[in-house]
Amino acid sequence: MTAELATIIDFIRYGASRFSAAGLTFGHSHDNPIDEATHLVLACLHLPPDIPPAYGAGRLTTAEREQVLALIERRVSERLPVAYLVGETWFAGLKFKSDHRALVPRSPIAELIESGFAPWLDGRQIERALDLCTGSGCIGIAMAEYNPDWQVDIVDISDDALALARENIAFQHVEGRVEAVKSDLFAGVKGRKYDLIVSNPPYVTEDEYAALPGEYAHEPKLGLTSGEDGLDICLRILDEAADLLSDDGLLIVEVGESEHALAALLPEVPFVWIEFKVGPMGVFALERRDLVEYAAVIHAAAVARRPG
Ligand SMILES: C[S@@+](CC[C@H](N)C(=O)[O-])C[C@H]1O[C@@H](n2cnc3c(N)ncnc32)[C@H](O)[C@@H]1O
Repeated sequence: MTAELATIIDFIRYGASRFSAAGLTFGHSHDNPIDEATHLVLACLHLPPDIPPAYGAGRLTTAEREQVLALIERRVSERLPVAYLVGETWFAGLKFKSDHRALVPRSPIAELIESGFAPWLDGRQIERALDLCTGSGCIGIAMAEYNPDWQVDIVDISDDALALARENIAFQHVEGRVEAVKSDLFAGVKGRKYDLIVSNPPYVTEDEYAALPGEYAHEPKLGLTSGEDGLDICLRILDEAADLLSDDGLLIVEVGESEHALAALLPEVPFVWIEFKVGPMGVFALERRDLVEYAAVIHAAAVARRPG
């Protein structure tokens, strides 16, 4: 039946239909089957995502047909995210290597990077920035790409993630401006000062994790879960960040759906929940001075959940 498929558009349409019929979840790189199939087919054919529409009429060779069809079937039968199948994805308009060593890049923080963090940086001079819990390195590397005068450290506790992040540093040619450090949160960069700390840490609750679709089981659990209510790592970040921020430094952290639990746990703390083009996405900004002012309540909340 697939013998009738001939052109790039045919295979994108076929992939999208297969994905829809199979009831796949789209949450990693795309939110719909057509974009997902487009990513898979173009990447498999080594074509950029912005080819002129006329190329859609181009016909595949027999070898290309087999490769594309095999990936479409693996996407359906194994529920593998398309980024892992083709080994690459896009974040903030930049191409990154992606595989099982780290989460597929998808943070809404890409929108902040692309817009120069407006208005959150508010004219602040940034010399050093930190991407905490960097995974594939996407946030820190994109920050360095968009801001050639920033020095960026990227840290992760996972050797696997850091190996991939280092490959992405080389892939994006930002060696010398981006340093990858193995670290349990801030432990490996103690004594350094940052004007901006950005983090997309693990924040999925155990209940949410148990209910996630099969696609997420291919990602490292270390990158997703963070205690019962998803806030264990976030509270450690809030508790320790002030020591590493410069006096008027800014902290930006993504906590997704755990936003509500965080706001309820620390009602005094003036988190500013950032509005994205699509609305709020569970990302807050907080000034160093607020971390200092509310240090006692933050510390109490962080200590309360440390393993005894
Ligand atoms: C949600 S993933 C985010 C990856 C990347 N920032 C992104 O947006 O795609 C969280 C990352 O935090 C790392 N991580 C978990 N616990 C950590 C810790 N205690 N210290 C440093 N990194 C940690 C995981 O290895 C994972 O790569």
